[in-house]
Amino acid sequence: DKPWTVPALADAKRDGRKLVMLTCYDAGFARMMDAAGIDLVLIGDSLGMVVQGHDSTLPVTTADIAYHTACVARGLDKALLIADLPFQADATPERALDASTRLLQAGAAMVKLEGAGHKCEVIRFLVEREIPVCAHLGLTPQSVLRLGGYKVQGRDEAAAARLREDAKAVQEAGASLLVLECVPTPVAAAITKDLRIPTIGIGAGPQCDGQVLVLHDLLGVNSGHRRPRFVKDFLAQGGSIAGAFEAYATAVREGSFPGAEHSYA
Ligand code: KIV
Ligand code: NA
Repeated sequence: DKPWTVPALADAKRDGRKLVMLTCYDAGFARMMDAAGIDLVLIGDSLGMVVQGHDSTLPVTTADIAYHTACVARGLDKALLIADLPFQADATPERALDASTRLLQAGAAMVKLEGAGHKCEVIRFLVEREIPVCAHLGLTPQSVLRLGGYKVQGRDEAAAARLREDAKAVQEAGASLLVLECVPTPVAAAITKDLRIPTIGIGAGPQCDGQVLVLHDLLGVNSGHRRPRFVKDFLAQGGSIAGAFEAYATAVREGSFPGAEHSYA
């Protein structure tokens, strides 16, 4: 098992190998994820909710993400480390470049940012400056105030068509990966077919090129929020933390997770 590289992600999609991703916030869990063969590790701004106890991801700062990125990076040898650009760190290309530079210097190999539209310009600006980017569409938690809550996106035909256009736009802007969150299964499947870059789903059905879950959700840690439909507690099945990571990786690779009960028709 060689360490993951950015170009190897597109190879995995071409070869039909599913990508297994988890969020992580510290070195101890990072070491266990690496040992379990988790391909991609995300320092998500979900840390604002599951680690810091906030009601949204909006209070998270670049300094917070950089701190946890450095912690996680010390625990990884093989997995590719992706770090979230927090709320408004990607508001302009210049701000995004400053924040991304900090995150790459803390050990990330890629940054993730939410949205399309003017964010395509941000993606292009970063990629031209040697910063690999993961895009994130569908339910984008940094949009919670405009959206009025955490809801499935792309449900009607017009919204689905817009999502497909946005997905093509972030690919054309240079993104290497695309996270799809809370998107109906057929819409995520169509986007996955449309794109050369891998899609990573969370609440987006089994046909994405990979899956991601929040660590706390996978282990059944109660974060004080309603448990979303797409969550599965793999600790119950795996019997230990290492077993939970292995059970999750196996289920994603065989295509048994997510099931219909974890997805939106
Ligand atoms: O912040 C996060 O954990 C995320 C994943 C849910 C994709 O963005
Ligand atoms: Na996030």
